[in-house]
Amino acid sequence: MRFANSGTEAVMGAVRTARGFTGRQHMVTVEGGFHGLYDELMWKSDIENWDAHSGQAPKVIPFGGGIPAKTHDLVDIIGLNDFAALEDVFQRHDHQLACVVLEPIIGNAGSIAASQAWLARLRDLCTAHGTLLIIDEVKSGFRVAKGGAQALYGIYADLTTFAKAMGNGYPVAAFGGRADVMDVVGAHSGAVVHGGTYTANLVGLSAAHCTLNILTHTDALQTVNRVGERVRDLLGRVFTQAGIEHTFAGPGSMLGIHFTPTVPQTYRDWRKTNSNLYRAFCWQLIDRGVMLEPDSREPWFFCEAHQHMDFAWLEEVATQAMAAAIKEKP
Ligand SMILES: Cc1ncc(COP(=O)(O)O)c(C=O)c1O
Repeated sequence: MRFANSGTEAVMGAVRTARGFTGRQHMVTVEGGFHGLYDELMWKSDIENWDAHSGQAPKVIPFGGGIPAKTHDLVDIIGLNDFAALEDVFQRHDHQLACVVLEPIIGNAGSIAASQAWLARLRDLCTAHGTLLIIDEVKSGFRVAKGGAQALYGIYADLTTFAKAMGNGYPVAAFGGRADVMDVVGAHSGAVVHGGTYTANLVGLSAAHCTLNILTHTDALQTVNRVGERVRDLLGRVFTQAGIEHTFAGPGSMLGIHFTPTVPQTYRDWRKTNSNLYRAFCWQLIDRGVMLEPDSREPWFFCEAHQHMDFAWLEEVATQAMAAAIKEKP
């Protein structure tokens, strides 16, 4: 493992290591994922302005200004769970792909998740082509399970990135993985360079040490997951009573909520959900004291302390909020 200060830095370190190890430059990411503010990974499908019924793919645009157009040449974006796109990208870049970077449970697209079969095929293709699989566990790591999303799937990356829950609020991150790959990082001639004034600083590492100790010796993550499942059940009752088609994605600890009849399988499916109703519902919840992000691409994240909340109160305010949101006719 190498330590860093943010998820962005961990991803940058992992990608540089993959390139150093493979001697290749090109990478692949998944539509709807987010991997921090790193120029090459700041290209996205313009889903907000996409006509879902056009039959066309959404335009790929930079996140904003200041991103060199050339960085786009180094990245291909494919759809989650799209087998044809997966085979195609490996064929087009035969033995030229340094890495594939993805969140198997997309923490930035409402916990829409890779199917077991698609992730297994991705793993196999990476192995066959000498491409490194980088699983970005910045959101899912030390949250959905002690072993992150990889433990839930039983499918493992060559390199993994961590941040967020690892320091429980302190600025600390890490990337690492296969020893033969990480051996390219170092001070020898031609080595991959990684480090900085604050990497492996004692404040961040102490916080991570403490957090990981707690996760090792307590059942905090089971509690977090149980709380999420309880909230999922109570919200399910609220939505059903209000006659709202809904579905949930991801584990309880990272709960995606979508107003649509079937669980979205891709980021484009998310665009077809009633995210306007969700937004109105959230603003009504905020008015009633539940502070959350009103964009349904942001799952609900729970912490251990939420086990002590008043669930009956939450059900009551969620019922009121939904009734008020429906009146707004979003
Ligand atoms: C999956 C994922 N990777 C990377 C990042 C970037 O992390 P940071 O904001 O710490 O730079 C984020 C941030 O939300 C993220 O969700």
